[in-house]
Amino acid sequence: MTKIKDKPKSDRPREKFIKNGPETLSKSDLLAIMIGNGIKGKNVQELSSNIIKKFGGKFLDVTVEELTAINGIGTAKALQIVSAISLFKRLYDEVRQKDIVIQDYKNVLSLTYDLRDKKKEYLVCLYINARNALIKKEVISIGTLDKSLIHPREVFNPGINLNASSIIVVHNHPSGNPEPSAEDEKVMERLIKAGELIGIPILDFIIIGDKDCYSFHKKIKDCESNNTYGGYVADGEQLNLFDIFENQKKYSSINTDSVNKDKGYNNLHRKIGFANILTKSNNSSAYFRLHNRRYLGNKYKLLGFIEDIISEKCGIIESFCDIFAGTGVVGERFNSHEIQIISNDILFSNYICLKAFLGMNTIKTDLYEKIDYLNNLNAEDDNYFSLNFGNTYFSLANARKIGMIREEIDKIAFNEDEKNILLCSLIYATDKVANTVGHYDAFRKNMDTMQSLKLLTPYINFSNNDNNVIYKSDANILIRNISCDVLYIDPPYNSRQYSDAYHLLENLAEWKKPKVEGVAKKMDRSHIKSLYCLKNAGLAFEDLIINADCKHILVSYNNTKESKDERSNARISDDKIIQTLENKGSVEIFEKKFKAFSTGKSFDTGNIERIFYCKVK
Ligand SMILES: C[S@@+](CC[C@H](N)C(=O)[O-])C[C@H]1O[C@@H](n2cnc3c(N)ncnc32)[C@H](O)[C@@H]1O
Repeated sequence: MTKIKDKPKSDRPREKFIKNGPETLSKSDLLAIMIGNGIKGKNVQELSSNIIKKFGGKFLDVTVEELTAINGIGTAKALQIVSAISLFKRLYDEVRQKDIVIQDYKNVLSLTYDLRDKKKEYLVCLYINARNALIKKEVISIGTLDKSLIHPREVFNPGINLNASSIIVVHNHPSGNPEPSAEDEKVMERLIKAGELIGIPILDFIIIGDKDCYSFHKKIKDCESNNTYGGYVADGEQLNLFDIFENQKKYSSINTDSVNKDKGYNNLHRKIGFANILTKSNNSSAYFRLHNRRYLGNKYKLLGFIEDIISEKCGIIESFCDIFAGTGVVGERFNSHEIQIISNDILFSNYICLKAFLGMNTIKTDLYEKIDYLNNLNAEDDNYFSLNFGNTYFSLANARKIGMIREEIDKIAFNEDEKNILLCSLIYATDKVANTVGHYDAFRKNMDTMQSLKLLTPYINFSNNDNNVIYKSDANILIRNISCDVLYIDPPYNSRQYSDAYHLLENLAEWKKPKVEGVAKKMDRSHIKSLYCLKNAGLAFEDLIINADCKHILVSYNNTKESKDERSNARISDDKIIQTLENKGSVEIFEKKFKAFSTGKSFDTGNIERIFYCKVK
């Protein structure tokens, strides 16, 4: 046996390490440095080489007992080695976890695969940051999941310490059946409520069985938009479970006396009914809902907030006017037999969709066949749309198809109503395959949206639409011709014109095939410019309020901080809003902290969403 000190210096592990770095050492050399000395008859390199050979790939799981069984390794050395391995594993896990971005329930499953084989029930939490990257996975409890045993503190304390943005809760059913039990639902409800109050929302609650799993997020999104689950970020927004349940609420089913004044969770049973949400799935025809659309400034996530104020302040109402309707989500929220909705927007592309969803009370049955027919058109030639927008905002194939379908709609639509529905379907489908971040001021450099265009059927609640009226008008003109109980005002608040952001959809809807200019390929938009984006927005607002014939006014207006980019700053000051409303009646301001979410990254901008409420004199 050659003693280590008899070896040339260049062959000794420590010297090699110092001279050439750890990468040049073999595994047994690295272990030799850790062990330090050999034993009688075996130098340290031989000893470590024997150990590496003995355990091979299992070395990372070696125990103190296994090591001390080797001649030459005492307890102290064995502890040293096992501790080093554990330390390495821990640090490696932490670093690795930071890079894992969780986009949907499947990503969660791959991180919690081990739970399938567990004989006991586990509750595991994944703490994630604003980019949905995993910060830490932690086992919270082992044993029966029981509302009285799981305290929200155990789930949220690590979240607070880790500065997590949201939490995904994962639980296994050793029985193998992933269907949620009543106890699962109670635990989830409690955690969702707590998450909303603490400010670390529960993004999903997933139950793992032996072959299958149950994601509440996926289940509810599937029910809502018929198996078009798009992961945790959909329609440009990330919705946590609280938001989703909030949005399932239906105003007409609410008894105003029972409204929970603390603006908190308002409990699941106030909504359509928890059980209904979970069981009304599995309808196979593909449809889309009014809110399945990316739209700047849409109030989808604030519906619960708006509804609470109306319930508390306005009592029973018979008519609701959404005069800057955009997508129409706010009007839709109050749409029922008992409440007439007046919905208006200056853009034709919005009017069409509002008309389809909120203005139609009957439909010809062959609509589905027409949608099928349009989907099956073979578009191989160029047309107005593909020549102007192909290979920029859309893949060439999608642009050709959009242009061809648009031509065909004019030919096959039986009447204006049917045409509106088909156009609405085309607008939503077009937006889904657009190579943009959600508006048309620019397109992405890389064409990474290769999904092909598919028209779906709008999900319309015809029976609620009997008394509704839809307009495409300038709000200041319309206000002189209508009256309502509640007037909801949600104008643009800065200089960015909606006609700039949505010129392409407007062009497609109007189909006058105008000349388009510039890199963004915009048409002439002078006929749809909004006064609310100009310097004198305050005067337009004043005129609107003076002429409003209503009992209650709610104004949404953002409080974004002063920005260096003048275009982003609010056009009407808070003082002006308050003073104008005070001339009309008594004013109260409601606030809600709002997490902005854009282009795949969510960040807390510290934005406060405000609603100015005015009880008209
Ligand atoms: C903030 S967005 C409304 C968002 C809407 N509440 C939602 O949840 O989707 C403002 C809307 O006002 C419309 N608009 C702008 N100026 C208008 C005007 N003078 N009259 C009517 N609508 C106008 C824009 O087209 C845009 O859709």
